Amino acid sequence: MTPPIELWICKTPEDLARHGAAFLRRQIQSRPRVNLSCATGATPVAAYSELAQWASQNPNSLHHVHWFHLDEYVGMSSRDPRSYAAYIQRHVLDPLLVPTENAHLWRGDAASPQDECTRYDTAIRDNGGIDCQILGLGMNGHIGFNEPDTPLDSRCHVVALTPCTLSHNAIHLEGGAMPTHAMTAGIATILEARRILMLVSGAKKAAAINRFFTAEISSEFPASFLRNHAHVTVMADAAAIAGHDQDWKGIRIHEAE
Ligand code: GLP
Repeated sequence: MTPPIELWICKTPEDLARHGAAFLRRQIQSRPRVNLSCATGATPVAAYSELAQWASQNPNSLHHVHWFHLDEYVGMSSRDPRSYAAYIQRHVLDPLLVPTENAHLWRGDAASPQDECTRYDTAIRDNGGIDCQILGLGMNGHIGFNEPDTPLDSRCHVVALTPCTLSHNAIHLEGGAMPTHAMTAGIATILEARRILMLVSGAKKAAAINRFFTAEISSEFPASFLRNHAHVTVMADAAAIAGHDQDWKGIRIHEAE
């Protein structure tokens, strides 16, 4: 039987960032070589910044960490500040002083997005797989850019973005043409990570997190597939779980201090 999902309830978004960063620190310190794959979006920014603060006080603590990311908009080069490669550069690689050889970025402007997906899948495999996958939760249950109806066996692939995802992300996409497609690690790619940390923040995610814990496991709500993974930790702030009686099955709930 799959062990229960560990749910840590953090009082505030600041607590969520602190606990998220502490979790990542434990992953970083657990092995001589660590591959971390980062989510983008607004939620993990503060956790990355907490991690950078720790790293600045602990020089040489990250030399063994290799950094990947989940997804990228098709057609956006890393020079475009709206790209996820630029986000990772800004929030992770620069503040953590990550050397270029430890960064494995998607190339959004690759001539063939399909070939880029194959290249990224191969890069993950050739580097020994992902030790810890950081995820956010999309309103419609997407993880990475795996929108509803993405099959369980999907690997890195190109997706058409849904109106729901585009409108949620619109604020970060101003200043240039709206992307229509993205490349993302697939559900199978994500589930191959040895450990998964999902961060969820804010009242707007309350319906999604409730669905995550209660929906039938199916591609209709892609995040539900995580419930079959043996090592998933969800950290949510109080606003994200407000209004639920938390009578969720298969979940071990902890109150984070
Ligand atoms: C985006 C990204 C995901 C991210 C999710 C949640 O569409 N592709 O990787 O986890 O949305 O974003 P946010 O944290 O801003 O709610």
